[in-house]
Amino acid sequence: MHSFGYRANALLTFAITILAVMCAIASLSDNFTSPHPSSKVQVLNINWFRNKPDGDDEVSMTMNISADLQSLFTWNTKQVFVFLAAEYETPQNSLNQVSLWDGIIPAKEHAKFYIHTTNKYRFVDQGSNLRGRDFNMTLHWHVMPKTGKMFADKIVMTGFRLPQSYR
Ligand SMILES: *[C@@H]1O[C@H](CO)[C@@H](O)[C@H](O)[C@H]1NC(C)=O
Ligand SMILES: *[C@@H]1O[C@H](CO)[C@@H](O)[C@H](O)[C@H]1NC(C)=O
Ligand SMILES: *[C@@H]1O[C@H](CO)[C@@H](O)[C@H](O)[C@H]1NC(C)=O
Repeated sequence: MHSFGYRANALLTFAITILAVMCAIASLSDNFTSPHPSSKVQVLNINWFRNKPDGDDEVSMTMNISADLQSLFTWNTKQVFVFLAAEYETPQNSLNQVSLWDGIIPAKEHAKFYIHTTNKYRFVDQGSNLRGRDFNMTLHWHVMPKTGKMFADKIVMTGFRLPQSYR
């Protein structure tokens, strides 16, 4: 036999449970919308470093690029475009940005990776500014959603330096 009081109590318990579940879902989905990607780049070798006949510096390097971009993937993510750029200052330009590598990540399963590679695109300066040059490696990404706006962000990795002399 269920009294009115028992039913009211059960209803209240049910309502509180629903509220708790909704709070949990809200904080979970909030976590999902604040991605926390990470990346690390190591320069394993300077393969060569020269001043070209036209006067511009060019360097070839072998790198280990690792990243965990899994948190960028949600139910609404179609794919992620990612590129690695060397960024540095010269007397002529406050920002020089040279793309070294790029890729398209089609799914979350591929979003945690490392790749051992030489620079895919040429690292050429507009001048002879690269000797002893400090630079940053910046991993940029563009998230292409299934619906809605594309968004972009980056991770800046500091503390890289090119050799003092050509080799
Ligand atoms: C949300 O993220 C923080 C830090 O990343 C973690 O400690 C916490 O457990 C997460 N909360 C939920 C509900 O997933
Ligand atoms: C590249 O980096 C990853 C992750 O940091 C590491 O597991 C791997 O051994 C490295 N590979 C080389 C060739 O250094
Ligand atoms: C590298 O990035 C840091 C932080 O964003 C910035 O302060 C610094 O000027 C950058 N270094 C170079 C060489 O561009």
